[in-house]
Amino acid sequence: MKDMTQTKSILKALAGETQATPPIWMMRQAGRYLPEYRATRAQAGDFLSLCYNPELAAEVTLQPIRRYGFDAAILFADILLVPQALGADLWFVTGEGPRLSTITSQGEFDALKPADAIHDTVAPVYETVRILSQELPAETTLIGFAGAPWTVATYMIAGRGTPDQGPAHALKAENRLVFEALMDRITEATIEYLSQQIEAGAEVIKIFDSWAGSLSGEDFQRYAVAPAKRITQEIKARHPGIPVIGFPREAGNGYVGFHAATGVDCVALDNSVSPDWAAQNVQVDGCVQGNLASSHMVTGGHALVDETRAIVAAFSKGPHIFNLGHGITPDADPENVSLMIETVRSWKP
Ligand code: CP3
Repeated sequence: MKDMTQTKSILKALAGETQATPPIWMMRQAGRYLPEYRATRAQAGDFLSLCYNPELAAEVTLQPIRRYGFDAAILFADILLVPQALGADLWFVTGEGPRLSTITSQGEFDALKPADAIHDTVAPVYETVRILSQELPAETTLIGFAGAPWTVATYMIAGRGTPDQGPAHALKAENRLVFEALMDRITEATIEYLSQQIEAGAEVIKIFDSWAGSLSGEDFQRYAVAPAKRITQEIKARHPGIPVIGFPREAGNGYVGFHAATGVDCVALDNSVSPDWAAQNVQVDGCVQGNLASSHMVTGGHALVDETRAIVAAFSKGPHIFNLGHGITPDADPENVSLMIETVRSWKP
């Protein structure tokens, strides 16, 4: 498993190497807690215009790298660009979140575009990746990403974020044909989208399944594990050696065996699982990423330092990428991010 030809710390961890200091990046590291992000977003006009403006999207991707020196940059875009590229209407309501036209019938499904017709819409995202692969420091890894089919489907079916993914569960129960056709279409589009990100220069791929925790039993296997496996296999067949990070958020026991079941190189953990449990039950199978509660970025202080040290210690015997358990929130204090990074980088056994 160990690939000693890797020089970037993120790629070393993904190749299975245990390092004295884990590499670090942060979900939503380019975001509203940073004044420079808010300024560039204002310049772009709104969030979607920022996503589709390659120069400005590259600029906000680089901002947290300049400020903090993270080991990875994550492409600035959104998981909901794929539904938009498939033909759904998409807009963001300030203070509330995304809104989309809904897919709940065969007729609405039939109106979607085929998977290979997405590229015109998302071409600016590929351009952002090309700019970043030129501009990032040599030691910084560029992560491309997409939403997992289940998570993307929950937004396409409900037309918005939902607390319990009720509308998606309802369609799955009442019209499995349309539900599964939609899952397949998203899966195929995601493979096309990620492939083009890799062609443009993404070095690692992350699949965000933010709502995997609401799938249980056989549904977790069918709609979280199976699509992640299909995407990972196809991406690796087309781009041998490309590492993949899977994030079946709030999967709980579903994290156990997820590396082997899907073929991902790294499993990202949310903060509902304890690092000691995850070291014994998940990290035994390969690299893990996580899992500091993002609330520490708001509250800071001794609790942040103690919890950060406990996470680094728990995962210190195997491959680990330090991260939060979910995205940093807009009310976070940028100083607390510095404190987290210093704590990780100065940790000693
Ligand atoms: O991590 C990064 O910095 C990379 C960029 C990124 C964004 N969204 C930017 C963004 C990534 C990887 C995402 C993923 C994403 N988007 C997910 C999966 C991860 C997760 O958070 O669970 C989901 C579910 C979405 C959909 C989405 N986008 C929602 C529900 C919202 C509204 C909630 C919110 O935080 O405002 C967004 C908007 C969004 N995506 C913002 C950012 C920086 C905030 C937009 C703004 O500037 O107003």
